[in-house]
Amino acid sequence: MSYYLNPLDVTALPSWKALEEHRLAMQHFNMREAFQADPERFNELSVSCCGLFLDYSKNLITNETRALLVNLAREAGVEQAAHAMFNGEPVNASERRPALHTALRRPLGDSLMVDGHNLMREVHGSLAQMTDIVGRIHNHLWRGYNDKPITDVVNIGIGGSFLGPQLVSEALLPFTQQSGVRCHYLANIDGSEFREVTANLNAETTLFIVSSKSFGTLETLKNAQAARTWYLARGGSEEKLYRHFIAVTSNKQAAIDFGIREKNVFPMWDWVGGRYSLWSAIGLPIALAIGMHNFKDLLSGAYSMDQHFLHEPYERNMPVLLAMLGIWYHNFWGAQSYAFLPYDHYLRNFVKHLQQMDMESNGKSVRQDGSPVSCSTGPVIWGGVGCNGQHAYHQLLHQGTPLIPADFIVPVVSHNPVADHHEWLYANCLSQSQALMLGKTRSEAEAELRAKGLAEAEIARLAPHKVIPGNRPSNTLVMESISPGRLGALIALYEHKVFVQGVIWGINSFDQWGVELGKELGKGVYNRLTSYESSAAEDASTQGLIDYFRGRHRG
Ligand code: F6P
Repeated sequence: MSYYLNPLDVTALPSWKALEEHRLAMQHFNMREAFQADPERFNELSVSCCGLFLDYSKNLITNETRALLVNLAREAGVEQAAHAMFNGEPVNASERRPALHTALRRPLGDSLMVDGHNLMREVHGSLAQMTDIVGRIHNHLWRGYNDKPITDVVNIGIGGSFLGPQLVSEALLPFTQQSGVRCHYLANIDGSEFREVTANLNAETTLFIVSSKSFGTLETLKNAQAARTWYLARGGSEEKLYRHFIAVTSNKQAAIDFGIREKNVFPMWDWVGGRYSLWSAIGLPIALAIGMHNFKDLLSGAYSMDQHFLHEPYERNMPVLLAMLGIWYHNFWGAQSYAFLPYDHYLRNFVKHLQQMDMESNGKSVRQDGSPVSCSTGPVIWGGVGCNGQHAYHQLLHQGTPLIPADFIVPVVSHNPVADHHEWLYANCLSQSQALMLGKTRSEAEAELRAKGLAEAEIARLAPHKVIPGNRPSNTLVMESISPGRLGALIALYEHKVFVQGVIWGINSFDQWGVELGKELGKGVYNRLTSYESSAAEDASTQGLIDYFRGRHRG
């Protein structure tokens, strides 16, 4: 029986029990000592693939831990699950759909038959459509209502129709010089955001991409309507609207009803989840920013990670190792959150994409068959760019009470060398993981204070504050420089990490029913705010806050 129809209770597996026992044996494991005892530790516990190098030696693990974790992945059926996903089985069981974002990066000539239909034709047809529009815009053949070339593209979309494209177009900014097109993102239903995004734009040279898988998302539709009003108020006409509005959606008719020409509607498919969609035409703003050639390199990088994930033995399989380390800390050490710390300005928004990818996917408490999960799932993902974080929340990582595993990401080469900035940036990244691992013992703290000539009473007063527990785990991912291919591999790495964890927990990583409740209740609250509905809200708190708003707007 398929894993998604009959998920296992992972906690009942012998490999889970073995890990519980091993966890007890590891209670006093000390990383400092492990490094001293084994000069091969770094070589043993590191792996490279697809232009990425992962050092996972600064973890609370031994070779035995790795073997036990890999065993759990095997026993839980990760390999079968991965094949089911890649082959287009309905792994999104609640919605009875496949999850085929991996098909979006398969090369031309591949075929993938799902329900008697070769999906690769549609995928490469869409890429050809993208190539055509990107070429026309870059070559100034696509012009605005006054025949001026397009200089600015505004992507109107939210969630997966925003975060992935924003991350990639920002991360690959050094590859945008030749395109001559600036990309902007309009996501929230917030007049201030609308104003800030449109403030310096010229309607004559601006193209809006209404990016919505469903074409039914409130924030996106409201922003699309506001953009249309903005365009019409600045000399645009309804007749020339087609030159300024295109769409990416699986709801073609709704886009046409909005006024977008059929041939300017790019496809999305129900077999691609929003948070996994940047590889499809949802990635159009990326392609417009960096060119199709670079966009295809991004896809190739992701494809090579897909192949690595499918074929590499789990002892050397980067996504599986990352996923299982996450399981180790979350389920066996009680780590409730996990920090993602890129040391690169261009990756500053990666954590937002990762938050959606991970928390919308694995923030679930029932298994695929509707039965409650038997262990904790879905850690909180947070983080931000270093060194900035070092002067803010890293304090908690070093001396706080919770155990927070961290991933450090850093390129070896900067796109923008300034003096010795990059050497310092890289050094800071490494010294943070080192500090987390080594910490500072009481005797080291005392010796340090003594060397400064402090009196014994003062040393006794200060020493406890200077002790850093250390032994805190982290991974470090290094790459040469950020390139489209390496970025594609990096994003796919985390997609597969999230997938593997979902399989271990037996949950459906591809639906998001929890999000729907807020959307439903939002309509009722809106109607009460705007007095379309006279009945009171279900609870006094919400009603009180509605009254507060109405009181202010009456006056
Ligand atoms: O936030 C819920 C969600 O459904 C996400 O999964 C999705 O990425 C986002 O809304 C946007 O949806 P759409 O692309 O249909 O506008």
